[in-house]
Amino acid sequence: MRITVMGTGYVGLVTGATFAAAGHDVACLDILPERVAALNAGECPIFEPGLPELLKAGLASEKLRGSGEMASEITEADLTFICVGTPSRNDGSIDLAQVESAAAAIGDALASGERKHVVVVKSTVLPRTTEDLVLPRVLERSGRDRASVGFAMNPEFLREGSAVADALQPDRIVIGAADGLARARLRLLYAGAECPVLECDPRTAEMVKYASNAFLAAKVSYTNEVANLCEAWGIDFATVAEGMGLDDRISPRFLRAGAGFGGSCFPKDVKALRTAAAAEKLPVAMLDATLVVNESQPLLLVAWARDALGSLKGKRIALLGLAFKPDTDDVREARAAVVARALLDADASVVGCDPQAAANFTALCDIKIAASAEAALDGADCAILMTEWPEYAALPPAVFAERMARPLVLDGRRALDAKALRNAGVEYRAIGLGGNK
Ligand code: UGA
Repeated sequence: MRITVMGTGYVGLVTGATFAAAGHDVACLDILPERVAALNAGECPIFEPGLPELLKAGLASEKLRGSGEMASEITEADLTFICVGTPSRNDGSIDLAQVESAAAAIGDALASGERKHVVVVKSTVLPRTTEDLVLPRVLERSGRDRASVGFAMNPEFLREGSAVADALQPDRIVIGAADGLARARLRLLYAGAECPVLECDPRTAEMVKYASNAFLAAKVSYTNEVANLCEAWGIDFATVAEGMGLDDRISPRFLRAGAGFGGSCFPKDVKALRTAAAAEKLPVAMLDATLVVNESQPLLLVAWARDALGSLKGKRIALLGLAFKPDTDDVREARAAVVARALLDADASVVGCDPQAAANFTALCDIKIAASAEAALDGADCAILMTEWPEYAALPPAVFAERMARPLVLDGRRALDAKALRNAGVEYRAIGLGGNK
C-alpha cells in the first residue's frame, strides 16, 4: 500500500520505517526542507536503538523516503498516519494543536483529488478526538463526502529504547475504525500480524491506549508504595514482587520498585486523562494517587541523603543516570530532575553523568556534568543511582569504595549488588530493600 506519515518524531519514524520494512511504499512528511533532506541522507534525528539501521534499509530499498510534497503525496496515498506530538499544557490538559493542523493539512491535500483515502490517528489522543476533531476538520477542509474518506484510530504501544522491536513484533494491534473503508484498509495493512488484533470504534481505541498507560503507571506507583512499606519493615520487596508475579493475573512485569516513572508518555497521559475527567466532574482518585506517589517517590532518596549526611549544603552528590530510563537520551519528566532540583535547593553540589542524556539534562537543570561515572564519584559524599544503565550496574564496588569521600550509595533503581558493595565497605541503601538500616 502507499502510505504517508505526518510527523517525523519518534512515533512517525518508527511507524514509517516499519511499514517500509514490510514492503509498503512510505513517505514521511515534514514541512521543514532540512529535516526532509536529513532523513533522505539517512540521518536519524533521535536516539533509538535499531532505528538508524531500519531507516537506512528503507531508504536503500526505495520503500521509504522523506518528502515535503504534502499535497501530492497524500492524494496519491491509500492511508495517512497522523503521528504528531500531543504535549501537556501547563494545567496538565492535552494540547491538540499539532493534531488539528495535521488534520487541516490532510483536508487541504484531499481537496484536490478524488481517490479514496483513509486517515489514521496514531498520536495518543483523548477519547472522541478522532471523531469530533479530526474527522470534521478533514471533511470540512477537503469538501469531500464521508464515502470517500475513511477514519480510524490505531494506537501505538512502543516503548522508547525498544520501539523498533515493539513495532516489528507488536503484542497487540487495535483497529478503531469509524467506517468500513478504514476497517478494510487497516485489516489489509495488518493482515500478516502474528498477534491478536482487536477491532473497535475510534473512541474505544483511544481509551485502550490511555487506560493501558495509566494502568501501568498506577502499577509502578503501587509497587513503589508497597516497596517503601517493605523497606521500613525489613522485607526485601524484590522477593515480594517475585511472589506476586507468580500469579499470572498480576504478572511479574512492571513490578520494579524505584524512584518513579518518567518519560514522554506516562506522566503526560495520566495528567491528560485526569484533567479531562475533572472537567466532566468525574472522580479519578486512582489517577490522582498515581501522580502523588510519583512526585514524592524520588524525594525519598534526598531524604535518605539528609538522614546520612545531615545538611546537604556544599556536599558533593553524584547522580548516576539522568535519562528517564536506560537506552534513551530522553529526559522528559526524568525523576533525576526532581532529585537534582531538590539537591540544588539544599545547596548541594550536584555532579551528574549519563551515557546519552547529559546534554539534554543540562537544558532542564543546571548541574555539573562529569565525563564518566568514575569522574562523578571522585570525592563525592554520596552517590544516587537514578537510571539503571548496564554500565553503572557493572561498576566494580571498589570504584565506589575508593573514589568517594564518603562511600554512601543510594540506589533509586535496585540495580546495584547490595552484598558486594557492603562487603567492599560501602554504605548502601536501596528502595524496597529490607535491612537497609
Ligand atoms: C510507555 C509504555 O510502556 C508503552 O507501552 C507506550 O507505548 C509508551 O509509554 C507510549 O505511550 O508511547 P515508555 O514511556 O517508553 O513506554 O517507557 P516504559 O518502559 O514503559 O517506562 C516508563 C517509566 O516507568 C520509566 O521511567 C521506568 O523507569 C518506569 N518503570 C517501569 C518503573 O519504575 N518500574 C517498572 O517496573 C517499569
